[in-house]
Amino acid sequence: MSLYRNSAWFLKGVTEFTRNAFLSASKRFVEKDLEVSVAGRSFMITGANSGIGKATAMAIAKRGGTIHMVCRNKDKAEEARADIVKETGNKEVYVHILDLSETKKVWEFAEGFKRKYKSLNVLINNAGAIMSQRDLNAEGLEKSFATNVLGVYILTKSLIPLLEKSVDPRVITVSSGGMLVQKLRTGNLQSERGRYDGTMVYAQHKRQQVVMTEQLAKTHTNIHFSVMHPGWVDTPVANAMPDFHQSMKDSLRTPEQGADTVVWLSVSEAAVKNPSGRFYQELQTVSKIWKHAVIVPAAKGSSPKTGRWCPPTCLWPGPTAPLWRNKS
Ligand SMILES: NC(=O)c1ccc[n+]([C@@H]2O[C@H](COP(=O)([O-])OP(=O)(O)OC[C@H]3O[C@@H](n4cnc5c(N)ncnc54)[C@H](OP(=O)(O)O)[C@@H]3O)[C@@H](O)[C@H]2O)c1
Repeated sequence: MSLYRNSAWFLKGVTEFTRNAFLSASKRFVEKDLEVSVAGRSFMITGANSGIGKATAMAIAKRGGTIHMVCRNKDKAEEARADIVKETGNKEVYVHILDLSETKKVWEFAEGFKRKYKSLNVLINNAGAIMSQRDLNAEGLEKSFATNVLGVYILTKSLIPLLEKSVDPRVITVSSGGMLVQKLRTGNLQSERGRYDGTMVYAQHKRQQVVMTEQLAKTHTNIHFSVMHPGWVDTPVANAMPDFHQSMKDSLRTPEQGADTVVWLSVSEAAVKNPSGRFYQELQTVSKIWKHAVIVPAAKGSSPKTGRWCPPTCLWPGPTAPLWRNKS
């Protein structure tokens, strides 16, 4: 990462991503936007057992929504489910076990979900991870890419027919302001070349989520897509960067503060008045982020061969391949 980009990101972070920045921004939040009942609407939340995902599930369950928690660890998921049911009194909270880094299983899960359920109003792609070293999944794909990009893409694309059948469908992806330190690179999707720096690989994948959201919004105009940054939040993901966590720990947001924008994008009427495909922070679209994206010149999205955005599945000749052909 260049010194310039690193410094710009940190400066932006200390002014915009901390708990104090949240408290200051929250003065202009319109409380009525969140005073809604979502009874009868269903919400799938990945990584709902912890941090921002759990806080989001809690907030939506309080408003009466049906929650589908998609988690990789059964014990952690059941414990979180019990907390949510106990605190909200809402029993419509279901656990589904899925490791999003296992590409074929993501597709199988989504196909099974479509067969079992008649509707899904909102998909929240929240799960995310920073890898400490380069590992491969069962299909030989690098795990950060498989979890943070390909898993999100396959889950979303597979569920689109179900979302399209449902009322007011929305897809929200939890990205990160860390994406500012990376320009879009499609030439090394498997992080095979160069030293593997898990934090930078993660930032690259968060950048890819932003571009992917723009592309999905263009293709699937019946669904409202958004992608967002939750600020710097005290969770295990922030802990995966020990130096950062140590120096910022007194300024980090609570998971509830980090979840505020996701919840607003998921339940409010106001959110869907904005165009689809936008990036959000503190309950509003962030044009400044796009100005920063100009500093990062390759942000248009390109595949080395065609010069166009390449759906992540172009790398994976698995069973879903025919699903995407001619459709994205
Ligand atoms: N915390 C921050 O400062 C910050 C800043 C910007 C963006 N974000 C983003 O916010 C989102 C939520 O993270 P968080 O901060 O709330 O951290 P967290 O509490 O660690 O939550 C991450 C969730 O993702 C799940 N997960 C990770 N890999 C998975 C996989 N392969 N399959 C299924 N689930 C998986 C985790 O499951 P386990 O509990 O089993 O590990 C956990 O439930 C992430 O996308 C993260 O990148 C966080």
